[in-house]
Amino acid sequence: MAQVSERQTLAPDLKKILLTEDEISKRVSELASEINEKYKDTQEPLILVGVLKGSFIFLSDLSRKLTIPHVVDFIAVSSYGSGGDKRGEVRFLMDTRENITGRDVLIVEDILDSGNTLYYLTKIFKSRGTKNLETAVFLDKSERHEMEVDVKYIGFEIPDVWVVGYGLDYKEKYRTLPYVAEMYPQKD
Ligand code: PRP
Repeated sequence: MAQVSERQTLAPDLKKILLTEDEISKRVSELASEINEKYKDTQEPLILVGVLKGSFIFLSDLSRKLTIPHVVDFIAVSSYGSGGDKRGEVRFLMDTRENITGRDVLIVEDILDSGNTLYYLTKIFKSRGTKNLETAVFLDKSERHEMEVDVKYIGFEIPDVWVVGYGLDYKEKYRTLPYVAEMYPQKD
């Protein structure tokens, strides 16, 4: 198990560190290398589309490790199914500023849980005529998948536990922790 370094004190509602700052940095560099290699001969800049809010830290670290031409964009979505069910087609609260038609696009997500968000997002983006659409996900909870999603770049596979940090929150808390921690399950 990873140890908390001297300058970090684990909050009482956090159980343990799952991924240290160093482990994360190393893995993000590896993903950036793969992406650099894949798009090294591409003419037009790759569009990185971060899904707010959770992806903002992963996206900023990843983008700063990319040496290929790229632009950064963001979307915000919410998902509602019929009858108040949380799962269902995503609705855009904020759309991309870039026109993604005919472009290479990389959707950047913090976590793949049920797969609902990425399933609908890739469907919508493909319908807009992207040239090449790929996805990068920092954390993958494969035990939780309900929808089949093809993810090209995965940071880490994690078990089905509550996680916070590196963009992920619990009620907006802990998003900016430099590591990923497992949280004790909360009542609400
Ligand atoms: C989280 C996460 C993904 C989505 C993944 O977003 O950032 O976008 O859920 O879940 P899924 O695979 O089941 O669709 P959340 O709604 O917590 O918003 P946030 O990123 O603003 O915290």
